[in-house]
Amino acid sequence: MKIAIGNDHAAPQLKLAVAAHLREKGIEVTDVGCAPGEKCDYPDSAEKVCRLVTSGECDLGILICGTGVGMSIAANKIKGIRAACCSDYFSARLTREHNDANVLCFGARVVGEGTAFDLVDVFISTPFCRGERHCQRLEKIKRLEEKQG
Ligand code: RB5
Repeated sequence: MKIAIGNDHAAPQLKLAVAAHLREKGIEVTDVGCAPGEKCDYPDSAEKVCRLVTSGECDLGILICGTGVGMSIAANKIKGIRAACCSDYFSARLTREHNDANVLCFGARVVGEGTAFDLVDVFISTPFCRGERHCQRLEKIKRLEEKQG
């Protein structure tokens, strides 16, 4: 599995901790975020991570800013991205099962390292359930993107 990860200047330490946590599990991580002390805007990291996901170079993306909200707003502007901002385990699981989310966002000012690891672990290990009603709803989301042009 390959994961793309990005952050802004509010989250370099948590990004490094999450990347190390994933690498310890043998997961390949592409880090496009900024390092501690650097300044970077969340839409820029969001775009880089999302392009890696929509191109198929990475399977899933993780985006961390102060709240996770800015990252999710930016990521969801990109066609083919279903980004979920989660700070609880249940939502991180259900957004894979029901929404087939391909990007997880959370905030370094919202969750600590332990919760971040739990969110990431459940997100990357939960498959989309492929139930008919969920597939129909995802088709409707795709149509919304198409209407947008
Ligand atoms: C940066 O200060 C902060 O606004 C950003 O990390 C994020 O929380 C935006 O949603």
